[in-house]
Amino acid sequence: MKKEVLEIIGGQCLNGKTSVYSAKNAVLPMLAGAMLTKDEVTIKDCPFITDIDNMFKIREILSVNTIWQGRDIVASGAVQNNHIPEALANVMRSSIFMLGPLLVEVGDVKLHLPGGCKIGARPIDIHLDGLEKLGAKIEVLDNSVRCHADRLRGAEIVLRYPSVGATENLISASVKAVGETTLIGVAREPEVVSFCEMLNAMGAKIKGAGTSVIKIAGVDELHGAIIKPVTDRIVAGTIILATALTGGCVEIEHCEINHLGALVTKLISPKIQIASSLDGIVVESTGDIDSFNVSSGPYPKFPTDLQPIVTAVLCQGAGNCVVEEKVFENRFLYANELKKMGAEIVTSKDNLMVGCSSLKGANVVASDLRGGAGLVVAGLKAEGKTIVEGVQYIDRGYENIEKIFSNLGAKILRKSI
Ligand code: EPZ
Repeated sequence: MKKEVLEIIGGQCLNGKTSVYSAKNAVLPMLAGAMLTKDEVTIKDCPFITDIDNMFKIREILSVNTIWQGRDIVASGAVQNNHIPEALANVMRSSIFMLGPLLVEVGDVKLHLPGGCKIGARPIDIHLDGLEKLGAKIEVLDNSVRCHADRLRGAEIVLRYPSVGATENLISASVKAVGETTLIGVAREPEVVSFCEMLNAMGAKIKGAGTSVIKIAGVDELHGAIIKPVTDRIVAGTIILATALTGGCVEIEHCEINHLGALVTKLISPKIQIASSLDGIVVESTGDIDSFNVSSGPYPKFPTDLQPIVTAVLCQGAGNCVVEEKVFENRFLYANELKKMGAEIVTSKDNLMVGCSSLKGANVVASDLRGGAGLVVAGLKAEGKTIVEGVQYIDRGYENIEKIFSNLGAKILRKSI
């Protein structure tokens, strides 16, 4: 059977203008939160990526309507079903976002434990602990969880870790609970802020989004809204890192530099200039990378989703450095593939020792979304031809990644072999 691969001929500088769409990690929870009303919720300027396709399938199973209007998604309808089958729950982590809204709208949910990238165990204890505090009855079965609640009641909940998904699920569960909910130790990611903007536009009463404490006053009903989610800082960060590595000058429109502070402060040097443009960011690079250490963490620390991509850049840098992964316990699967290209990397439990080397093209295999993007970025600089397999992982979060970079001058194309 034929499979799709990306074929890259390295060595081209990146130049020109590109733009980013609404963030995958904002649109996915919004497609769950929109179920908190039967009215139409319009989510604007969305990317055509497979994680969104799968959310459409989950919503279809729940018998709510989801249609594309150009790049806008119009979600509507009252939830009729409450069981997400294993096949779909296993396809991606975002199925877990359905737990909060289903509990509110249907009161009884059976959800197979979510799938997702092979980047860690990805338990859901923080989600379940919070829902229990809101009054839900939780039953954990072998590989699924059953939740029941007649009407959730506001509570004070302290999250043991600022989990993005748990923050979003608990916000969904609280917006129509009886009384006030205080969530302490929540995630501060821009995608969480954008999610709260949507719910407030729908009539929710949420305060403190973007800080570590969010307060929610429960309301009886929510109504339709039109929302323009925050744009995708991880796609923008991927393009910035690629340009820094290859050299060139790229403007990324509709991107917010203040959402990429941790990346920008690491990259800026006499050889790499990054500045705000009228409606985005301009990055200009000589293609020479000074090495620096990186440690990922919850926002506003360095984003874990850019960790594989910054490693692909640093292994072609000027010196030795350390990349720490403090969010997921198994997010270095791509390192062995970079070694096939000549990267000098020593892997230990939660960090990589990265040496400097000139990478050569090779046949490599992506095993998760951002690791795959890192292999593509490495191939843009590596000498000769790189073939990247596992394109289906990359398509989960990047719309036509080959077009993003070929439009900027890279020699990259998608082939069936
Ligand atoms: C979201 O995943 C993003 N996905 C991830 O992006 C991102 O890497 C992650 O947040 C961190 O920023 C979406 O928004 C769809 P977490 P999520 O709950 O919510 C542990 C990408 O590439 N944890 O913040 O699943 C967990 O195991 C994806 O776009 C618990 O222990 O991440 C992990 O180690 C990958 N118990 C850490 O917290 C829980 O109940 C962070 O997970 C929940 C999480």
